[in-house]
Amino acid sequence: MYIKIGRDYNDLSIDTAKIIAGHIRAMPNTLVCLAAGNTPLGAFRELVAMQERGEVDLSSVWYAGLDEWVGLGPDDEGSCANVMNDALYKVIQKERIRIFDGLDSDSDRQCREMENWIKSHGGISFTLLGIGMNGHIGFNEPGTPDVDGCFTVALDDVTKSVSKKYFGKELPVTTGITIGWRTLFNAQSVVLMSSGKDKAPIVKAALQESQTPNVPASLFQNHSNLSVMLDNDAASLIVPI
Ligand code: PGA
Repeated sequence: MYIKIGRDYNDLSIDTAKIIAGHIRAMPNTLVCLAAGNTPLGAFRELVAMQERGEVDLSSVWYAGLDEWVGLGPDDEGSCANVMNDALYKVIQKERIRIFDGLDSDSDRQCREMENWIKSHGGISFTLLGIGMNGHIGFNEPGTPDVDGCFTVALDDVTKSVSKKYFGKELPVTTGITIGWRTLFNAQSVVLMSSGKDKAPIVKAALQESQTPNVPASLFQNHSNLSVMLDNDAASLIVPI
């Protein structure tokens, strides 16, 4: 595990964007999976700027959307599709991207279609993940099963209460659809990213306490090519080893 601690969020974002761009340049035409959420937004801004400067071609890889709130579509503020379209996908050829549709009631079919998309691109080569306040990654909530593929999940209470920050109001979200952690873990490269003091305890639990499905991010500790990108605040409880 490689841990990089940036001075602040800006540093963290620039360094993370460089890792993503490096991967895209090194492994064109492979499939990448980039998390939505607030944490990666700075890295996405930087990636878009890198593309404008001709430093990376974001349409040279394929994309699998990590997760979505069931009941919310791309036009709903704060949905994963809405956030990703706005931050990144708007500068990428549409046919390169597959996402979950939170408005489609046939979640099983959506899961199978996403699994087929992943298989048909030879699996995921690179995964960027944030860490939730409860240690979740995507919607792999505490207690997540170890199954390959995609599934729907009842949202954890912590996830429901944190969700307001995305929607600007309280919405009755109860269910998520997600790529499962085992499929994400099978990527050649994984980047875990976290920022801010409020994440420090869960970052510590994810990286320096026992691996447990109750803290899904901890299941990545022994990934053979894991980079953990933190700012000083998120890293404040990490003990140097
Ligand atoms: P955040 O979300 O980046 O908005 O903090 C992380 C997550 O819940 O996975």
